[in-house]
Amino acid sequence: MIRLQLALGIIITIVGLLIVAWVGVNEDANLAQRDREILARRIERGAELFERNCYTCHGINAQGVPGLGPALNSREMLEERVKEVGWPGSLHSYLVRTISGGRLVSTRPEYQGAKASDPNAMVMPPWLEDYGGPLRPADIEDIAYFLENFEEFPPELLEQMATPTPAGPPGEEDVAARASALFIEKGCGGCHTLSSVPGATGAVGPALDGLGQRAAERIADAAYTGQATTAEEYIRESILDPSAFVVPDYPDAMPKNFGDLLSEEELDILVQFLLQQ
Ligand code: HEC
Ligand code: HEC
Repeated sequence: MIRLQLALGIIITIVGLLIVAWVGVNEDANLAQRDREILARRIERGAELFERNCYTCHGINAQGVPGLGPALNSREMLEERVKEVGWPGSLHSYLVRTISGGRLVSTRPEYQGAKASDPNAMVMPPWLEDYGGPLRPADIEDIAYFLENFEEFPPELLEQMATPTPAGPPGEEDVAARASALFIEKGCGGCHTLSSVPGATGAVGPALDGLGQRAAERIADAAYTGQATTAEEYIRESILDPSAFVVPDYPDAMPKNFGDLLSEEELDILVQFLLQQ
């Protein structure tokens, strides 16, 4: 009898211990699961903020825009940068600090574009509200999480919007596709809305729907200050020399170096495409 009680006691104790262990393990798993969910949400938010604020200069898939901003789409590459510039802290702190404060001068020669026309211009604007930017500390953290995890969590949202660049010289029919891709790749879509181009939702400059018609009206207007005599010339001038005529109610904020950033062929494709909008 005593032996039976002892055996029962041992069994009960073992079962009890197993239950405690099982609950404990699950608790850990639940915690890890919750952490992952929170991180995933923050990354998603970071992707949205990036899409709204950064792709003009860094590209729609953070692949970089020649002359405007470097690629940010690889953790390995960013870690290399941290070493290259001699930043003593973590990658996360490098990202948070760079995004918060922007850059007054570039650490590379190829991104001094803004300085050429305005010596006081920042090559990358500050984003934190304390430094005059539009974002709060939590926003900046979320963007940093997004960039750090770029490869593990490919930003579906951004991918949908990316337009593939066709290889080889364009035929008649794919000029529109090529032009749409250029419009995004060169950063136009970050500042201009154009309904025929997915992802072109910027609001820094005027919407470009109906531009062919409007271009003709602009040059006929007494307030026009540029040299163009046809709608086509107006669009070309708007891209190459944005200050020749500044659209009323808008700042003279369009980059002045598209002449260097676009080849003759790319410029022609964009002008012909915009003429038909
Ligand atoms: C007006 C153009 C512009 C905009 C808009 C812009 N950046 Fe930049 N950014 C730059 C340039 C130019 C550099 C490179 C500076 C240098 O070479 O030192 C840079 C550098 C960076 C770097 C450091 C990368 C490196 O290689 O050292 C990070 C991170 C970054 N930007 C993130 C962002 C984020 C996030 C946003 C949006 C919130 C943003 N940028 C918006 C122009 C821009
Ligand atoms: C950093 C923001 C920014 C980028 C990038 C940008 N633009 Fe602009 N754009 C503006 C602003 C602001 C205006 C209005 C002020 C002015 O006329 O210069 C403008 C004006 C224009 C106009 C004249 C529109 C009208 O209603 O008369 C055209 C055309 C134009 N942009 C085309 C482009 C093209 C094409 C690209 C890409 C190659 C581009 N923009 C890139 C900000 C931008």
